[in-house]
Amino acid sequence: MESQTTVTTLGAGDAKACRDLDEAALGGLWTLQQWTHELSEAQRICLGLFDGPRLVALACGWMVVDELHITAVAVAPERRRCGFGRVLLEALLRRAADDGARHATLEVASCNAAALALYSNCGFETAGCRRNYYSDGRDALIQWRKLT
Ligand SMILES: CC(C)(COP(=O)(O)OP(=O)(O)OC[C@H]1O[C@@H](n2cnc3c(N)ncnc32)[C@H](O)[C@@H]1OP(=O)(O)O)[C@@H](O)C(=O)NCCC(=O)NCCS
Repeated sequence: MESQTTVTTLGAGDAKACRDLDEAALGGLWTLQQWTHELSEAQRICLGLFDGPRLVALACGWMVVDELHITAVAVAPERRRCGFGRVLLEALLRRAADDGARHATLEVASCNAAALALYSNCGFETAGCRRNYYSDGRDALIQWRKLT
């Protein structure tokens, strides 16, 4: 990871930066209002990786009893393959484990080779498939990992 980068917990004041990164990296998962909500809820954990003042990666999830449900992982398109995704995902898993999570899970499009490789690299296994999960008909693969 580059020396000027920092990983920090995101709050409601980061909603616009998250929305902008979401639009660039995920095609606009949530609106500004939804991001503000995501970043304000007590059960949510949202981490950001900043290069100086610029948010270049984010990883968010919410705690459901002892499971971390990961809702978003995104790295700015021009900053991929620098290790940011892995650093932030591992930081999110550590934070969740510290908060009492015993498992982590998420859904990923079956055609998303980069994300599937990242999750596999970080210890996730495919635990099932949700057919036609996304609005465009793509299937989702359920990823599952035990946290120690
Ligand atoms: C998936 C994503 C978060 C990966 O972030 P990243 O910072 O580029 O990933 P990293 O550099 O940390 O890569 C870690 C490992 O993941 C795997 N990986 C990441 N991108 C990959 C790619 N394009 N092809 C193959 N493997 C890839 C590799 O195993 C890599 O390890 P290596 O570099 O030692 O080979 C990023 O591509 C992204 O933001 N994609 C769009 C949003 C998205 O699909 N999010 C997930 C939704 S579920």
